[in-house]
Amino acid sequence: MKKRIVLLPGDGIGKEVINSAKDVLNAIAEEYNHTFSFESHEIGGAAIDLYGTPLPETTVDACKQADAVLLGAVGGPKWDSNPSHLRPERGLLGIRKALDLYANLRPIKGFKNLLHASPLKEEVVSGSDLLIVRELTGGLYFGTPSERRDNGNSVVDTLVYSRQEIERIVDKGFQAAQQRRGHLTSVDKANVLESSKLWREIVEEKKAQYPDVAVEHVLVDAAAMKLITNPTQFDVIVTENLFGDILSDEASVITGSLGMLPSASLNENGVGLYEPVHGSAPDIAGKGVANPVAMILSAALMLRYSFQLNDEAKVIEDAVQAVLDAGFHTGDIQVPEGRLVGTAEMTKLIADYIKSQNASK
Ligand code: NAD
Ligand code: IPM
Ligand code: MN
Repeated sequence: MKKRIVLLPGDGIGKEVINSAKDVLNAIAEEYNHTFSFESHEIGGAAIDLYGTPLPETTVDACKQADAVLLGAVGGPKWDSNPSHLRPERGLLGIRKALDLYANLRPIKGFKNLLHASPLKEEVVSGSDLLIVRELTGGLYFGTPSERRDNGNSVVDTLVYSRQEIERIVDKGFQAAQQRRGHLTSVDKANVLESSKLWREIVEEKKAQYPDVAVEHVLVDAAAMKLITNPTQFDVIVTENLFGDILSDEASVITGSLGMLPSASLNENGVGLYEPVHGSAPDIAGKGVANPVAMILSAALMLRYSFQLNDEAKVIEDAVQAVLDAGFHTGDIQVPEGRLVGTAEMTKLIADYIKSQNASK
């Protein structure tokens, strides 16, 4: 198979972990006779520094013409006091919107031998396997830009959702539940927000189309509590943009680190973008210690969802599992034992495992 992949390294550890994804994909290409070509483009702070904008046209065009896009992370203290339109995060929101990537899938599964790496009790996290389906192109993130009022002392952010925007993400939630364990939790704040009331109505309407899926509604505050007291009760969670952002970082504690969570940002039939859930981690950037697993597992999701290379995706996931099982881990995984390695070594272990597996076939 021949595929063109656009890499958007971005900033901070994004620039480091994107190389890990590339190395692992090169191992897959070599072993399974594929041709992956890579083309890098700027986004975020790196693009601001070079071109004066967080999302150059050339980047958008390249993504539109690619077979799939891998993104590292954007942002950092250097740009934190920039005006809104010149913030790195604007580049990320812009590419999500430009490609209409409304469905963000964030799978969360504890790795067996790392259950004790979670600050949660091992018996609480054991058996957790959930998927957060986050709406990604609407809500508060994309409200009408507000101007400061009242001499700078008041501001407005608007939360807009149309029926069509809610319907398409809710459908994704139901469909994901059908392919998993048949349980959908819709998370909202319908006791307060109008947008959540419409959201809940639509979920109720859609139920009839998916009789094989059991649905429950949970308010977001309670969902935040349940996620870390009894995560095994969840199969698929479908929710709006901001709630999904917050709940997924929270859910990462199940796996022991934010550095473990991959994601897929998808539209109807066009190009998909694959990005770790974590950010640019300025506190560890440039040190070669970032956990590449979230980025590498995002590359596996790309193989599965964009290229239908299910076996190859599984090979990557098995390789990550095997390397973790062998006790190797980066510093973000808080375990007393095991073998502490950096980004490059962790990546090489995973790529080498992929090569060794094929040789033994
Ligand atoms: P962050 O996710 O960058 O980091 C939070 C904490 O987790 C830090 O202590 C960091 O060291 C650690 N961490 C995250 N990923 C890790 C990894 N792979 N390996 C080891 N440790 C890891 O969140 P933040 O500090 O709140 O934000 C930093 C910047 O990143 C901000 O500018 C923010 O806007 C941006 N951000 C970008 C994205 C993205 O590009 N998708 C996502 C979240 C935050
Ligand atoms: C994420 C990030 C982004 C978001 C930021 C950087 C805009 O936190 O991908 O989870 O909130 O969507
Ligand atoms: Mn986030």
